[in-house]
Amino acid sequence: MNVAVSTVPAQALKIERVKEHIGAIVTGIDLAQPIDGATRKRLYDAAVDNVVLVIRGQEHLSPGELQAAAEMFGELMEDQNRRYLVDGYPLISVLDNRHLDSKGQPAKVGANSTWHTDHTNQELPPKFTMLYAVAVPDKGGATSVCNARAAYESLPADLKRKIDGAKTENTLISSARMATANPDIVKAQRESTKPPTVHPLVRTHPETGTRAVWFHKAKTETVTGMSPEETQDFLQELTEKITQPQFCYAHEYQKGDLLIIDDRASLHKAGFDYDHSQHRRLYRMLVRGDRPY
Ligand SMILES: [Fe+2]
Repeated sequence: MNVAVSTVPAQALKIERVKEHIGAIVTGIDLAQPIDGATRKRLYDAAVDNVVLVIRGQEHLSPGELQAAAEMFGELMEDQNRRYLVDGYPLISVLDNRHLDSKGQPAKVGANSTWHTDHTNQELPPKFTMLYAVAVPDKGGATSVCNARAAYESLPADLKRKIDGAKTENTLISSARMATANPDIVKAQRESTKPPTVHPLVRTHPETGTRAVWFHKAKTETVTGMSPEETQDFLQELTEKITQPQFCYAHEYQKGDLLIIDDRASLHKAGFDYDHSQHRRLYRMLVRGDRPY
């Protein structure tokens, strides 16, 4: 007698949109079970279409099962911060409000609390950032995600013209931000001999062909024709224009949520509006992307 291959019953899986421009919540799936190709494609397409996908109810996953689930979305890449990793899983990094820096002080996490996309200092930044909730505060501590392609479309024509051909020079931390940054990152930047990585300020999504504003302010040394200080002010103004509420979704975690963010069409930030005596711990995985253009 043949043993049936376990697949996800199509009728159990639900993908519900959160807002017009952003977000979808997935229920009725267990990522520890084998997932068939059609279901994988539904999840992948939903992540791209909705910019951020939340898969609920995965608190039972082991790190190995979590990594295998993440690999459905592509090849994982190393987090460039090698200090906080899950033991035995070098492709799963840890974000934790109880981390200490190399001097034993509570680690500063300021760069994550402003709107950004990940690892822009690399030639091939991630296509997806995935966040898995291990410990969550009672309320607050959301990850907010902004649909930067819908926001780009909404910009006035003169501003679009100004940013369309602009380039960003990306480092680990902008010289204009060093005074308030995590000292380990400042030290790494001071010791780095790597020239800045140049990317477009508005990138084209390789799968949909849409355009999106795309930057990490704290890592941007300059935008074409601007000094480091002017760059920070300009990117702040641009951030305010594109992170209007209709384009954004703030996800307050339940334990076991897996968030999948399409980095090619979004900016995101971590929320610090929670009781810091409570534990907030997320695992992060990055899926390797293409060179932005
Ligand atoms: Fe991030």
